[in-house]
Amino acid sequence: MKGAYQKAYDESITNPEQFWGKAAEEIHWFKKPTKILDDSNKPFYRWFVGGEINTCYNALDRHVETGRGDQVALIYDSPVTNTIKKFTYKELLAEVAKCAGAIASLGVTKGDRVIIYMPMIPEAVFAMLACARIGAIHSVVFGGFAPNELAIRIDDAKPKIIISASNGIEGQKIIEYKPLLDKAIELASHKPEKCIIYQREQVTAQLISGRDLDWNDVVSHATPADCVPVASTDPLYILYTSGTTGMPKGVVRDNGGHAVALKWSMKYVYDINPGEVFWAASDVGWVVGHSYIVYGPLINGSTTIVYEGKPVGTPDPGAFWRVISTHGVKSLFTAPTAFRAIKKEDPNGEYLKKYDISCFKRLFLAGERLDPDTYHWASNLLKVPVIDHWWQTETGWAIAANCAGLEELPIKPGSPTKAVPGYQVDILDNDGKPLPPNSEGIVAIKLPLPPGTLPTLWQNDVKYKESYLDPFPGYYFTGDGGYKDEDGYLYIMGRVDDVINVAGHRLSTGAMEEVIAKHPDVAECAVIGAADDFKGQLPVGFVVLKAGVTKDEKTIVDELIKMVREQIGAIAVFKNAVVVKRLPKTRSGKILRSTMRKIADGQEYSIPSTIDDPAILGEIEEACKKIGYGKKN
Ligand code: COA
Ligand code: AMP
Repeated sequence: MKGAYQKAYDESITNPEQFWGKAAEEIHWFKKPTKILDDSNKPFYRWFVGGEINTCYNALDRHVETGRGDQVALIYDSPVTNTIKKFTYKELLAEVAKCAGAIASLGVTKGDRVIIYMPMIPEAVFAMLACARIGAIHSVVFGGFAPNELAIRIDDAKPKIIISASNGIEGQKIIEYKPLLDKAIELASHKPEKCIIYQREQVTAQLISGRDLDWNDVVSHATPADCVPVASTDPLYILYTSGTTGMPKGVVRDNGGHAVALKWSMKYVYDINPGEVFWAASDVGWVVGHSYIVYGPLINGSTTIVYEGKPVGTPDPGAFWRVISTHGVKSLFTAPTAFRAIKKEDPNGEYLKKYDISCFKRLFLAGERLDPDTYHWASNLLKVPVIDHWWQTETGWAIAANCAGLEELPIKPGSPTKAVPGYQVDILDNDGKPLPPNSEGIVAIKLPLPPGTLPTLWQNDVKYKESYLDPFPGYYFTGDGGYKDEDGYLYIMGRVDDVINVAGHRLSTGAMEEVIAKHPDVAECAVIGAADDFKGQLPVGFVVLKAGVTKDEKTIVDELIKMVREQIGAIAVFKNAVVVKRLPKTRSGKILRSTMRKIADGQEYSIPSTIDDPAILGEIEEACKKIGYGKKN
């Protein structure tokens, strides 16, 4: 309906309590909130205070009780194991209740943390919902992270138990999870009391007696557990995300705001009704997986898909079209890089011709900038609206989008359209002053953030404030740069901090620098994210060796690549590094990373007035050439 977006947006900003109070009526509360927005402790805000809720109840029990029990809730589609398995709401509830009983039988109660380190199998979803059911706080760690990264998260979240599986399957590769888990526990100072291991048929993991339990033993004999009401403001989960240093940020998600926001977004952002099939081709280890594989579609009474495969190679670039046509997917949500992968292997869309995807209505993309080329390729091929939307782990749902369920606005390629109701997005200069249209600056969101966004960082209000609220008082600092045009369309141009985005995976260059700096021959280093046609960005390391090092440079670079892979994980895709004599710095000693990035990308750059020695930039240009970056002549 024309004007519906603006009407909803205006109401959400001028009267947020009324707007979100109405949205909260779509959720089941054991006890209704007494206050919609509590702003008595600014700059900390709390939504739906006084309310009591259970997120799992909203995702499962409620639908079974209201007649949706026989509808398919979850489809597990795994081309890598040649499996398709469906769970109705009734069946999913039974699995989750048993899993919750098993976890509870190990002494896990409300507020305890449970780390979940699992591949894309239904048991990962059972485990998440089981935690929600008993009020335990889950923290899912993406399977691609190395033991050291898992150990960091174990030490911060201090889980009572860890739930894992014997292996994951990455395309053709079997990844054994158990040795990674054992190593992580060995590295961590905090030790979980128990580990539940789901044994898959590809690998049988060795269990450590007294600590490890076989999922089948503990879950199949468990007494199903009921839902435990929790406060709206109690944490549902912690999800660690890359910041600017090696210490990831533990983003906290509360129960009430999260349920309300996701339910609202399913209808108004994605235009998905109960009973319809929504597919987020992501991983439960990322925020997209939390919000739109697990909680959003289930709270909405829709059908979700757990896809254990890739866009290409499992077995071919027609994989997505097969899933869409087999399961009647109405909308797909994935990262642009997945479409670039398909485009690379099947530029003319030959594989699409094999499938009837007339059920398919919209493609939603997020996780990184949607380049206009990929936008045009996807929309020409699919002939449905391709909707770019912008968000982050911290917000948990879209900040800017073309809200398909409200009103489809004209699309401008390169823009995720406009701020979603609830988000007041401004472009600021370095002093925090709002900039006029078409001026690039820092993207910030006026407080309060809407429901579902992070209330704080896990047990670290101070870091939450320092990282997000202190940079621009009255605003949440997104870490992104961009601009708005004269029509209010947003353009997100990339991070202004040391976070990079590799194949839709958020990574910290600071974390990679910390690993590289541990090499005995390295004096100092800088890692930047250089543009890449396929993965969006790739990390590139510039390394200064200690005086007197005589070791061959290639050997050192190979050792660094191995170290990053072992300590952060293969997903860092750290494959390029070069030895330089010096790093360009300001007179006060700050490394000029953004200038280095421009040089690596072959862009024009101006010599910063604060630079200590401009001659170094020529050396960086030469170093970039050596590894295939920089200006192409
Ligand atoms: N467990 C273990 N290893 C993993 C992993 C996991 N869950 N996920 C990725 N890896 C490994 C890969 O096997 C690869 O290893 P290699 O160096 O031995 O080849 C490495 O990490 C890099 O992975 P990736 O960058 O993902 O490259 P890829 O070529 O395997 O796949 C894409 C490329 C585009 C298909 C894939 O990145 C993708 O689907 N991205 C979408 C991401 C996404 O959904 N993001 C969420 C926002 S919507
Ligand atoms: P993550 O927390 O992993 O979801 O990554 C969030 C970051 O990804 C954002 O801060 C942006 O830098 C980037 N990002 C996500 N979606 C988009 C988008 N649609 N356009 C541009 N950048 C995006």
